[in-house]
Amino acid sequence: MRLLVTGGCGFIGTNFIYLMLERHPDWTIFNLDKLTYAGNRKNLLPVEQGKDKKRYHFLHGDICDREYIEETMLKHRIDAVINFAAESHVDRSINDPSPFVTTNVQGAQNLMECARRIGIGRFVHVSTDEVYGTLGPEGKFMETTPLAPNSPYSASKAGADLMARAYFETYGLPVVITRCSNNYGPYQFPEKLIPLVYRNAKTDNPLPVYGDGLNVRDWIYVDDHCTGVELALLKGREGQAYNFGGDAEKPNIEVIKTILSILGKPESLITFVKDRPGHDRRYAMDFSLARKELGFAPSLNFEQGLKKTVEWYEANANWLEDVQSGAYRDFMDEWYKERK
Ligand code: NAD
Ligand code: DAU
Repeated sequence: MRLLVTGGCGFIGTNFIYLMLERHPDWTIFNLDKLTYAGNRKNLLPVEQGKDKKRYHFLHGDICDREYIEETMLKHRIDAVINFAAESHVDRSINDPSPFVTTNVQGAQNLMECARRIGIGRFVHVSTDEVYGTLGPEGKFMETTPLAPNSPYSASKAGADLMARAYFETYGLPVVITRCSNNYGPYQFPEKLIPLVYRNAKTDNPLPVYGDGLNVRDWIYVDDHCTGVELALLKGREGQAYNFGGDAEKPNIEVIKTILSILGKPESLITFVKDRPGHDRRYAMDFSLARKELGFAPSLNFEQGLKKTVEWYEANANWLEDVQSGAYRDFMDEWYKERK
């Protein structure tokens, strides 16, 4: 298979590419990434320079660029597309929604349009549980739950999901949508809760907890999400959306305290700050459809996954230093000033 992966220099894309190259010796992967603040080409340098270098190719490009995408799909004789490329951080979308609409909606539509013109055999669009909005204390999101996004980020992801549906219904594009809960693991940018708490705790800095800290997320180890995407590619029904989750619902404050206890750091670092506007209260995933049709099940529980994650960050301190470039620092400095 000749696979075009977009956004492969980000958190999930990087983990996905490593896993797929290991699991499928006959696949060739083309990783097309714009390299925004969240993309790091160096993540995959060992592949670019190692034994798999003939099966992995980095392409610097933007999913919004029609001519370039169409040319790339034709030139490299692409069989299937996995679209990870996105602006992915909710707080940034609150500050400025525009790039979210550009990449997450227009970029996704552009990819689908090129794929349909060329007749690509399979298109997996990677979406999120956030498109469903928020839950009360009971119940779980199902694929049939109406879309009710609350942040500019989740609205842009829902926009692309609806476009994918329309491309299937109208043009028969062989598209499968995946919707997953909160990922954690190696290579996650330290603006997201788990790596941010790890980084701040290590350096004895305050850990900003939004609101009362009782918002609940369903945490999944990144490799399990990647397996879900792989299954959707190989076995998913065209036109169908599939939920993936980790069966690990935790209030944020519990996640933070667990990291502090692994690191042996004091709870006095916890600092309650102003809440995120429109902050979804609770996410929980019913992934029985993916279990039944794709054979999906998370392989790690939260404690196992978190231990692996912390071990990776301990062993890769340079990576954290590397990704915290000027643009990121400026954004976070401004953000914290507002929150205090
Ligand atoms: P990320 O922010 O770590 O990586 C995004 C990647 O996309 C980066 O490498 C960036 O350079 C690239 N990119 C951004 N705009 C681009 C453009 N216009 N053209 C080409 N490349 C571009 O994101 P992530 O956490 O790895 O998320 C990947 C996908 O999974 C996203 O679509 C996100 O919505 C979805 N998702 C994420 C989670 C999670 O918990 N992180 C959960 C469910 C779904
Ligand atoms: O649910 C899937 C989504 O998970 C993905 O679609 C998004 O791309 C991804 O960013 C993530 O979104 P969240 O907003 O849930 O993740 P984040 O790590 O930003 O926040 C997790 C929870 O922790 C959320 O309730 C807000 C809270 N939080 C976050 C940060 C960064 C804090 O309390 N303090 C913080 O500093």
